Amino acid sequence: MPKGTQLLAALQERIRAAGAISFCEFMALALYAPQWGYYNRPQLQIGRRGDFITSSSLTRDFAELLTEAFVQMWHALERPQRFTLLEMGAGEGQFAEGVLGYSQATYPDFFAALEYQIQEPSPSLRERQRQRLAPWGDRLRWRDLDTACEPIVGCIFSNELVDAFPVHRLQWQGDNWQEIYVSLNAQGAFQEVLGPLSDDRIHEYFATVGIDPQQQGYSDGYRTEVNLNLIPWLKDLSEHLKRGFVLTIDYGYPAQQYYHPARCEGTLQCYYQHRCHNNPYCFVGEQDITAHVDVTALTCYGEQFGLATLYVTRQSLFLMALGLGDRLVAQQQSNGNLLQALNRHQALHQLIDPLGLGGFYVVLQGKQARLNLPQLEEAVQGFAQ
Ligand SMILES: C[S@@+](CC[C@H](N)C(=O)[O-])C[C@H]1O[C@@H](n2cnc3c(N)ncnc32)[C@H](O)[C@@H]1O
Repeated sequence: MPKGTQLLAALQERIRAAGAISFCEFMALALYAPQWGYYNRPQLQIGRRGDFITSSSLTRDFAELLTEAFVQMWHALERPQRFTLLEMGAGEGQFAEGVLGYSQATYPDFFAALEYQIQEPSPSLRERQRQRLAPWGDRLRWRDLDTACEPIVGCIFSNELVDAFPVHRLQWQGDNWQEIYVSLNAQGAFQEVLGPLSDDRIHEYFATVGIDPQQQGYSDGYRTEVNLNLIPWLKDLSEHLKRGFVLTIDYGYPAQQYYHPARCEGTLQCYYQHRCHNNPYCFVGEQDITAHVDVTALTCYGEQFGLATLYVTRQSLFLMALGLGDRLVAQQQSNGNLLQALNRHQALHQLIDPLGLGGFYVVLQGKQARLNLPQLEEAVQGFAQ
């Protein structure tokens, strides 16, 4: 059977049975249906040979620089005997490999305290992570937040996870929201239809992030997304964190920019073989579907669940504060292989490119924990969010 056919058939069957499904359900099935969903396919690859590049897949420097932050967190927590680093959505495992390898070589005291945990729903990615991380088998555990686990002292980290949560899509009509559902036309192709909101929490969401849609002056046809899945996710995180930090990195906007009337097409994006477009109904199961993250929602809901906002900044500033500039200088002075040097130089620049990865948001939250990053504070002065 051609690739994607089983998933298409399953989606069509589900829609025929229900009449129409919310876009959120469509996205959840396209990305996470067992076996055939995009993230569950054995052939999924993240990085140059896949559909998109992440900082973790670009260069090991990303994991190494963030290890500097984890070491500072360990000190801020007064060097507990066990520091748990829980990575959520670990992809190919490159980030974990970088953190474990670098801390083992550079910070043996921290490494002795480090327990690395991964939460990864995709069986094929879990298998790849197991193979890549085999040398650190005694330090690693895959965990499921649904099952009872010891509360964590340490840090819960994710990179490009929240943008992969299924979102509700809304359209402004008259003077209110309608929700976008997916149904089938007479030929069996996907088509969008409007209907009432499927979840009451959508109104509460806007109130929480400080947006009054009635006051925004939206025109008919204005579209946007709401990521309700981040609410239970943050609640679970906070419940599992006894003391420590939540570090979330992703692309997004604060609510005022996210829901600005000018952003009339929303932020939904699809990635297929490094091409970015906005049609979620083609290459179903073979392309990634994402929406930008509402950074205000992360901080507001975090605060509701007991996570204090410590820093909201950009990846470029965060990584510079952790020593990326020193790495660039050291790399320019080394006499290694020219091609490798060029590639690394380029990758370091990509990590801080303000129009690319460098523009990603870094949100650091704390529970009974504070972190002082003087270099970051210096850099942030004068930087407009
Ligand atoms: C865009 S990839 C990012 C991978 C990796 N963090 C990186 O930087 O390369 C998203 C990852 O999140 C995982 N994921 C999706 N939903 C998740 C959830 N609810 N909890 C944990 N991981 C999830 C996916 O399986 C995948 O590993």
